[in-house]
This record gives sequence, C-alpha cells and structure tokens, in this order.
Amino acid sequence: MKLLLSLLSILGVIASLASAQANDTPDLNIQTTFPNNAFNRVSNGQANRVVFSVTPPRSEDRILTLEGIKGAFLNRDKIGKRGYVMRNMTETKYKSLPIKPVDGKPLQVPYDFYPEFKPQELGVEFRLIVNDQQTGKKHNLHAYTGTVTVVEPAKSWFDLQALSLYAILAGIVGTAIWWASQNYPGSKTISKRKERSAAASSSAASPPSPSKASASGVKVPGQAGYDEDWIPEHHLKKGSRPTSPRPRSTRSGSSKK
Ligand SMILES: *[C@@H]1O[C@H](CO)[C@@H](O)[C@H](O)[C@H]1NC(C)=O
Repeated sequence: MKLLLSLLSILGVIASLASAQANDTPDLNIQTTFPNNAFNRVSNGQANRVVFSVTPPRSEDRILTLEGIKGAFLNRDKIGKRGYVMRNMTETKYKSLPIKPVDGKPLQVPYDFYPEFKPQELGVEFRLIVNDQQTGKKHNLHAYTGTVTVVEPAKSWFDLQALSLYAILAGIVGTAIWWASQNYPGSKTISKRKERSAAASSSAASPPSPSKASASGVKVPGQAGYDEDWIPEHHLKKGSRPTSPRPRSTRSGSSKK
C-alpha cells in the first residue's frame, strides 16, 4: 500500500513537471488597439499603427523580453486552407525589450504596417516573439486576430506638394492660352493687325498707291516702293545711326603683322 502511494506520488510529481513544461508559454495579457481608428481602417502604402499593451502575469517572476513583432494579412475565407496567409508583414525586431510595467502601466509597443491591396476587408494577425531569459526559449505568442478595411489614402487637396503642382500647371495652362491668343486667327492682336492694314489701304486709295506706282515704273518722291509699316524701326533708321568704328578688327589685323 505504502509502495503504491509513493509510486503514485512520484507519478504525480512527474505529471506536474510535464505539465509545467508544456505550460511554460508565458501567460501575457496583450491588448491590441488601433489608436484613433475605431473602424480599423488602414490606408494603402502608408504606415498604419497598432499598439500592444503588454502586461506580464503577476504571479510569475520570470524575466520576459520582447524580441520581435510579426504580422500577416489573412484571407478569412480560407481558414485552415492554402492561401490563408496572404502576405507576411515586415517583422520588427527588438533587442530584448524587458516586458514589465512602466510607471505602473502596461508596456506599450507600437507596430506599423503597410498594406498594398485593393480596397477590401482583410484579416490581420499579430504575434509577439517573447524570450524567456531563464530558459532561453523563444515563444511565438498570439496577440490579435481581427479584420481591417483597406482604403486608398485620403488625398488632401491643400497638401503643400499638390499646391505647388497646381501652381505649375496653372502657369503652363496660362502660358498656353496667352500664346494661343497671340498666334491664332480671331484673336485680338490679329484683328487689330487687320484693322490697321484695312485703314492703310483705304487711305492709300485716294492717292496713287505706292506699290502700283513703283510697279508702273513711276517713282514717287519721298515714298519707298513698299509698305514700311511692318518693318521694325531700327532697320529703317540704320542709315541715320552713327556707324560704330570697328577698331578691334583693324587692331587685330595690325598686331598680327
Ligand atoms: C509567412 O511567413 C511564414 C513564416 O513565418 C512562412 O511559413 C509563410 O510561407 C509566409 N507566407 C507568405 C505568404 O509569405
């Protein structure tokens, strides 16, 4: 009887040891929140933040450290099937961050992830890699499984970058309109030009037109045989302008000799 009892107690000790080993998974309390994001909306291509508030179990005095945070996007329609994990998020690694309360509050750890999907609802999962400093064993602890709504990032129309782009575009469009108004028929400048030439021809109607006169070989004194209106002033005044001496050419010519 005694032997049986001692055998049983030995078995019991072995059993409790085994269960202790199986249950060495740290019993962390992990609260996952999406700060300022009640509906778990995540923007494509941008940093989307979750914060883990981690509280170690009070009863245990083992030293636990955070080694990393992992995440994955999940296809909730494929639970337990291939394709359930759509994409792994980039792991954030820590250098043995002690998991203990800070100023009496749970340790808060942020994690940013960057979705690149078309807008839809997606499953997400986060896991914490926790190291037990006594045993040196790493534990991959489930922190959160939930749903996020992927949206395109909200475009801010008064974003500084956008504003400068609008300014450049406005400049280009304005220049194009101005250029078109200068160069296409029906525009003010062209009609002004037409008006001017019409007035010139009507005034030339009473006296013999200079072009006709020159064509017939009769020279009209004081008048050139062509319409001078369109010739820029400085071309006409060329003769009257004092001709600048060109000392450089003569000097260079003499110096060469
Ligand atoms: C995600 O990472 C795990 C290992 O952490 C790997 O087994 C799995 O194939 C990865 N899945 C994808 C979709 O990359």
